[in-house]
Amino acid sequence: MRLTPRLSAIAAMVPGGSVVADIGTDHGYIPVFLIAGGKVRRAVASDVKIGPLDKARGVIRRHGLEDRIETRLGNGLEVLKPGEVDTIVIAGMGGMLIKDLLEAGRSALEGIKRLVLQPMNAQEVVREWLSRNGYEICDETLAREKERVYQIIAAMPGERPIEDPFYFEIGKALIEKRHPLLPFLLEKKEKEYKKIIAGLNRAEQAGTAERLREYTRRLARLRGVMEQCSKWST
Ligand SMILES: C[S@@+](CC[C@H](N)C(=O)[O-])C[C@H]1O[C@@H](n2cnc3c(N)ncnc32)[C@H](O)[C@@H]1O
Repeated sequence: MRLTPRLSAIAAMVPGGSVVADIGTDHGYIPVFLIAGGKVRRAVASDVKIGPLDKARGVIRRHGLEDRIETRLGNGLEVLKPGEVDTIVIAGMGGMLIKDLLEAGRSALEGIKRLVLQPMNAQEVVREWLSRNGYEICDETLAREKERVYQIIAAMPGERPIEDPFYFEIGKALIEKRHPLLPFLLEKKEKEYKKIIAGLNRAEQAGTAERLREYTRRLARLRGVMEQCSKWST
C-alpha cells in the first residue's frame, strides 16, 4: 500500500513494535499500512461515524487483517480500555478537536508512551495542551502535498514544558532538525500574520492594540527564524 506524503509521515512517527490506536481512522489506511508492513503488532481503528468506520472495515478486509485490527465505533478515546494500546494517533482533525479529545480522554492516556498528532489547524493549541499536561514533544515533522504543508507532532510523557510561547506556534524540533520544509511553512505563517496585522490595523477598535503588538512581535520572531533558515544552505 502506498500512502500520501501526509499519511506516510504520520506512520513514520509510530514506533516499531507498538500497539496503536488510530482515533478517527476514516479510510483506515494508517493501521493497515502499519500492520501490513510489519511495523506494528496490533491496532485499534475507531471512528465516531459508522460510514467512515465501514470504509475502514472494507480496507482492512481487503488486506485480510481483520484478526490484527479491531474496529470500534465511538467518540474519541472513549473506545479504549486502559493499557490496551501504547501509542495513539489522532490525525486529520482540527487542533481544537484534538485538544478536546485528549482532555476528555485523560484516563485512557494512562500508560500511553507515544502520541502522534496531526492537527489540520490550530497546531499551537495542541502544543500548548501537551506542554501544560505532562507531555514533551519528542519529534516533529512536516509533509507537503501540493500547496499544503502538514505538521505532525510526536509526544511522550515528560515534564519539560515549552517555556517560550513562540514554540507553540512553530515547533522547536523543526528548527533544531533544520527541516527542509520549514521555510515553506514559515512563508505561509508570515502571510497569515501579515493578513491578521492588516485586519487589526483596519479595525482600529478598542482592544486591538494589544493583539496588534502581539502579532507584530510574532512576525518579528518568525522573520528571525526565516533569516536563520536562509543561512542553513550556505
Ligand atoms: C478528515 S478525517 C481524517 C481521517 C484520517 N485520520 C486521516 O488523517 O486521513 C477525520 C475523521 O475523524 C472522525 N472523527 C471526528 N470526530 C471524531 C471523534 N470525536 N471521535 C472519533 N472520530 C472522530 C471523522 O468521522 C472522520 O472520519
